[in-house]
Amino acid sequence: MLPMNSDPYLDMRKEYVMKGIALYHPITIDRGRNALLYDVNNKEYIDFTSGIGVTTLGHSNPELIAVAEAQLKKLWHVCFMVMNYKSYIELAEKLAKIAPGSSQKQVLLQNTGSEAVENAIKIARQVTGRYYIVAYENSFHGRGTYGYALASTGKYEPYKKGLEPMMPGVEFVPYPYCYRCPFKYEYPQCGLACLDYLKKWFAFTRVSPDRISAFIMEMIQGEGGFVVAPTDYVKELKKFLEDNGILLIDDEVQSGWARTGKMWAIEHYGVEPDIMVTAKAIANGLPLSAVIGKKNIMEKTFPGSFGGTFGGNPVSCAVALKVIEIMLRDNMPERANTLGQIIRKRLNEMADKYELIGDVRGLGVMQAIELVKDRKTKEPATDEVSKVIVKAREKGLLLLRAGLYLNVIRLHPPLTIEEELLNKGLDILEESLKEVVKEVK
Ligand SMILES: Cc1ncc(COP(=O)(O)O)c(C=O)c1O
Repeated sequence: MLPMNSDPYLDMRKEYVMKGIALYHPITIDRGRNALLYDVNNKEYIDFTSGIGVTTLGHSNPELIAVAEAQLKKLWHVCFMVMNYKSYIELAEKLAKIAPGSSQKQVLLQNTGSEAVENAIKIARQVTGRYYIVAYENSFHGRGTYGYALASTGKYEPYKKGLEPMMPGVEFVPYPYCYRCPFKYEYPQCGLACLDYLKKWFAFTRVSPDRISAFIMEMIQGEGGFVVAPTDYVKELKKFLEDNGILLIDDEVQSGWARTGKMWAIEHYGVEPDIMVTAKAIANGLPLSAVIGKKNIMEKTFPGSFGGTFGGNPVSCAVALKVIEIMLRDNMPERANTLGQIIRKRLNEMADKYELIGDVRGLGVMQAIELVKDRKTKEPATDEVSKVIVKAREKGLLLLRAGLYLNVIRLHPPLTIEEELLNKGLDILEESLKEVVKEVK
């Protein structure tokens, strides 16, 4: 037993773990059960983080534990480049079938979102023979590798700090972030000026479309602060890409697996990606990621130039198969909509009361509030976000921040959370906001 309210693991972390991994909540978690976490002092927290959108089916999900245990006893590892095994093949088939769009698909399994992004870009380049990648400002595609996931991430600090030069051949365009339109227009009166810029100005000044292999895009920017791209933007963009033989890589690492109210965020847009990457919630926390591409693209990849020792671990694959079964059986997209409506209503009510909330946005259960010091100037209220998050933690709610200015609070509860607990968490969020509003007055 630890002495009351002591946490030696935080000191040990300082001593033995490199500084480069930041720690947002200075607590040490001992165990979890569905939407609740308990620290080493047995303090209970409602988890609105889900390990950054990963434990979508809750902590210690008994059905997943049973599958993992059975697979652990049967087979841990053989390496998919050396020999075939069932769970990889079965998962590839399922993923190909549930992926968005009607084209036939093929699959590559890896371990992390960053790796999946690297491989999606490798595929796009190898198959098109074109050099450039276009990515979005305010995007995030991974810091776990030092290649194109990082190079195509559209935020400098902290991800790229001191790490230049980045991999060459990545160009950035503005994301349709309508609340902070870089052209200072209002949507939809803007007539999609940012897309117009991209098609005309960008193509003539930066890189000719016939040299671009792929655009990589999050339909909802995750780390960027749950910024949702407008439907007409995505539809028109896809047409422009098709007209120019450019592939669309849809990064669903954060937005996939029912969180937006559909299995994949891109299904809100009626557009089929050429290549999609997914990770995070795929195996509810066991390391696994996937690149799912149109068969006519994936078939053209060169044997031996893809793979890795661990990609598609048998235990992760078995759990992912169960995740898919549960998601379909329990209609998790519908559940995300039900929970999302509860959250959105509460956040809108909070926005009516507190000027500090400049924008409420999101899809499904992925809802966020952007805090500003002044609704007219939209000056980011970054410190206020930190204060709200600290207060919420003290009251037993774990939250995540996001956004270019870190002035966004994004909600990532598991889809299995009880509605009573969700409302309790939202009460804590509101109490914390109210206290911060009082303090800054
Ligand atoms: C949209 C997106 N892409 C890629 C990644 C990288 O995934 P990982 O941290 O598993 O490497 C993330 C991680 O947050 C992400 O949100």
